[in-house]
Amino acid sequence: MCGIIGFTGYLETKNVLLEGLAALEYRGYDSAGIAFFHNDTINTIKTTGKVSSLIDKVAISADVSSTCGIGHTRWATHGGVSDTNSHPHTFGKVTLIHNGIIENYHELEMEMAALGKFPVSQTDTEIAATLIDSYYEGDAITAIKKAVVRLEGAYAFCILFADEPEVIYCLRNGSPLVACHAKEGSVIASDMVALIKYSREYFVLPELHIARLTKENITVTDLNDNVFTPKMLYVNWDVTAAQKGGYPHYMLKEIHEQPESLRSTIMPRVKNKQLPDFTADGIPDRIFDGINRIIIAACGTAMHAGLVGRVMMEKLLRIPVTVEIASEFRYQDPIIDKNTLLITISQSGETADTLAALRLANEHQATTLSIVNVKGSSIARESDYVLYTHAGPEIAVASTKAYTAQLSCLYLIAYHFALIRGTITEAQCITYTKQLQSVIPAVEKTLNLAEDINKICINLADKEDLFFIGRGLDYALSCEGSIKLKEVSYIHSEAYAAGELKHGTLSLVTEGIPVIALATQTKVYNKMISNIREVRARNAFVILITNGDCKVDASIFDYHITLPELADNMAPFTAAVVLQLLAYYTSVHRGLNVDQPRNLAKSVTVE
Ligand code: G6P
Repeated sequence: MCGIIGFTGYLETKNVLLEGLAALEYRGYDSAGIAFFHNDTINTIKTTGKVSSLIDKVAISADVSSTCGIGHTRWATHGGVSDTNSHPHTFGKVTLIHNGIIENYHELEMEMAALGKFPVSQTDTEIAATLIDSYYEGDAITAIKKAVVRLEGAYAFCILFADEPEVIYCLRNGSPLVACHAKEGSVIASDMVALIKYSREYFVLPELHIARLTKENITVTDLNDNVFTPKMLYVNWDVTAAQKGGYPHYMLKEIHEQPESLRSTIMPRVKNKQLPDFTADGIPDRIFDGINRIIIAACGTAMHAGLVGRVMMEKLLRIPVTVEIASEFRYQDPIIDKNTLLITISQSGETADTLAALRLANEHQATTLSIVNVKGSSIARESDYVLYTHAGPEIAVASTKAYTAQLSCLYLIAYHFALIRGTITEAQCITYTKQLQSVIPAVEKTLNLAEDINKICINLADKEDLFFIGRGLDYALSCEGSIKLKEVSYIHSEAYAAGELKHGTLSLVTEGIPVIALATQTKVYNKMISNIREVRARNAFVILITNGDCKVDASIFDYHITLPELADNMAPFTAAVVLQLLAYYTSVHRGLNVDQPRNLAKSVTVE
């Protein structure tokens, strides 16, 4: 969260920064700002509101040219949403932007006050500018290094020093920064989406390293002044992948990209169209040797993918699997040892709590495997093994295509290692792998239901409460359906294991309350139908989702969505698409900003 960009080169900087901020806006969108050199003087323009407000303000107030500057889009942590609290922040000769949290800012603030240095904002960021300025005696790197010793927390900074026009200094600890040098100049940003226009080749700035960007090059040094040669990475998508491509919203585009993202994630890992194979991913078959416990740790939608994965893994691998909310995990004194396999799941690969869970597992010598979408991200780099989802860039705050790609990885892991462990036969593994491949056309077919779902959502637009119910895999999926709807429609919603309803929640089911009932699992189908009758008896408005065309008593539902028929275990893929579309169209009917829901952001780099 918080998007940052820096550019020094041969183009008009304001344009580069504003374009970059628009691409990074999913990381935070309550205010935005830029600072740039003009005639060797730093100009700062910032405002509350979206990047579009900043663009308007720049158009009015800054008809001056520049070729070096920094830009920021904010997700407020310390200090309310105001022009003053917006970045960049300047103190003395230092102007900086920041992503992260300076945890000891209060202590530093008192120290600076004793020196007669008083910040004007309520942010933790300004104290970093003040601190660096207090150490600055003409040498930027020395001042930054002195400040590093004092700063606690996670941060990525881009810094301009008034004495060095055309140069940007950057530093990271925890929060991400990626950079590239192209013919247009040097660019650094929180995320590749802001760089892709200039280069598909980039590097990740290592933690506690300082990058110095000039028009001609980027030099990276560690805190002992050793020059570091970064390893270059390459993205296999281009600038069009990060654009809306004719869709009204990124979320809708990303929902529709799922056949492709599933194909790209599954097919390279299926040998001869038959069995999963992780040779190219470098994941050895012995990874499960000695493992007696699997812990899946993740946040948000990624954690919900873990809930589905847990069911599949435990069933096939016959090893206990628990799913942990990463932000809770490390404070529970968890039992982790060398016989534990920790699987972290993360689209961004930067979620602070997930990263912290991974680091804890690494400390305890557990084996760590991550399912990550962003190449070279912190979680990917710090895991023993990585299985990349090939979902391409996901821009909408509400995660969709990353979720189904994560599910497909979890299924492949379950199949492959169940075969290695001998808990399933080769014939079973071939059948399951074939079923997984059949998901790709089925998801494509499910997308044809979009218009029907759009119409159903008209009925949900004025509701304030809603329930999702299901059993087994359907319950795990309900959790995702519920968060998706909450995120983008702001309707209060809860997911319930259908059998648990009568132990409390049924008291909330009154006339007209929508209940989205998932009944895709044959084993519990009849029980599920009984639970639907229970809510129907209280006059709930029921939207029923089944796998294939089941004969259902028409009196128990208002709408029936029939998924293309698949093996039961595969229904989460197609049902997920329906739940995503339900959330999307409900949000559209409520007239909300689907891609940038209030108070939320993507890539949550604060704990
Ligand atoms: C944020 C996003 C969610 C995402 C979660 C975990 O809350 O809004 O969509 O599921 O972070 O993110 P990750 O990048 O680790 O998958």
